[in-house]
Amino acid sequence: MPDLTFDDVSVTYRTSGRSGRDEVAAVRNVSLTLPAGQTLGIAGESGSGKSTLAMSVLRLLPRNATLSGRVLLGDQDVATLSFGQLRAVRWAKTSIVFQGAMHSLNPVRTVGWQLLEALELHAGDRWKTENARKERALELLDIVDLQAQKSESYPHELSGGQKQRVMIAMALACDPEVIIADEPTTALDVIVQKQILDMISRLVSERGISMLMISHDLSVLATACDRIAIMRDGELVEVGESYAVCTTPVQAYTRQLADAFPTIGDPASRMAPVTRHGRGAEEVPEIAHEDEVLLEARGVNVTYRSGGRPVHAVRDVDLSVRKGEIVALVGQSGSGSRRSRALSWACNPQTRDRRSCSTVRPSRPRDADSPGSARRCSSCCRTRGRL
Ligand SMILES: Nc1ncnc2c1ncn2[C@@H]1O[C@H](COP(=O)(O)OP(=O)(O)OP(=O)(O)O)[C@@H](O)[C@H]1O
Ligand SMILES: [Mg+2]
Repeated sequence: MPDLTFDDVSVTYRTSGRSGRDEVAAVRNVSLTLPAGQTLGIAGESGSGKSTLAMSVLRLLPRNATLSGRVLLGDQDVATLSFGQLRAVRWAKTSIVFQGAMHSLNPVRTVGWQLLEALELHAGDRWKTENARKERALELLDIVDLQAQKSESYPHELSGGQKQRVMIAMALACDPEVIIADEPTTALDVIVQKQILDMISRLVSERGISMLMISHDLSVLATACDRIAIMRDGELVEVGESYAVCTTPVQAYTRQLADAFPTIGDPASRMAPVTRHGRGAEEVPEIAHEDEVLLEARGVNVTYRSGGRPVHAVRDVDLSVRKGEIVALVGQSGSGSRRSRALSWACNPQTRDRRSCSTVRPSRPRDADSPGSARRCSSCCRTRGRL
């Protein structure tokens, strides 16, 4: 199994805008090693060059990019690989889960078809027959905790978390030695995010795979990686053991990055968030928590009609927002947006009295099961979603 080494890597993009040709130094003189079998996280704010560095590993940079320095897989410089050699390395030795990967599945092919295609193109010598590849595809779905029948599903028939699992299954398809995961859980809710991170960590340790994981979220990397590297404006500013980087960072910027995530219950981190311009806890505005309720919902129930049947989205929600308060609605995928939409509907001046959402009629239990009453009052039925 090879080490992955970035040796003084710089990447510059040529751009042409209204003001003529320009250059963006996306990565600058980065030297970093991911030893075989280990896990390394790269964190940094948006635009700091994380994805650019990741794409340099498999020569996936666009044509307007120029790379200097060396990217080594073991002692092989990837710049010197022929196209055939590179094709053999991609997927089979090193695979990548792209940022926003779940949107890059082919929408007109089933999940199973896409897994089989990857196996045929990149590992046809290992899984030689169609039957062997089919078995491998089912094994991969099992590895990422998806039922076998999902192989018949099209991407639009899967949830975001399931699509992300499929992408991880594809990355694992050819038994790679190195996996690069660029923001593998960013678009997922916290519960699915944890499931995916746990699964990745389990697979990496069970199979001894090396992993380079990218995230702007230090806590995600601390969960999954042995070491963390911090990038800023294309440069590497700090590398160390995950725990040390998160708890006793050497660089002020790393501390700033860690502080940018609000601490639960600490109004300072909420009301005066740290930004790259350095605003922070010292400048906490006076927060007046007043008792005056500006927004109130009482007994809100929302039912959607889908295919002629009622779908209960919100059930008996009471919520109030006082002056000076920030209230967050949190929920697993499929619950949060409906709740907030339901509440905004309830508080829409055109549909409800703004200050008294309690005018949304509380439901009667029989509403939930009665299509007739749902038709008469489709937004006020008893629902299953609860706060
Ligand atoms: N194809 C491109 N052409 C020109 N500039 C680019 C291109 N791709 C990226 N850049 C620039 O390179 C810099 C680094 O981008 P990159 O995508 O590597 O950042 P990132 O750290 O992955 O950010 P994010 O966390 O938002 O994904 C940015 O300034 C970006 O605008
Ligand atoms: Mg990126």
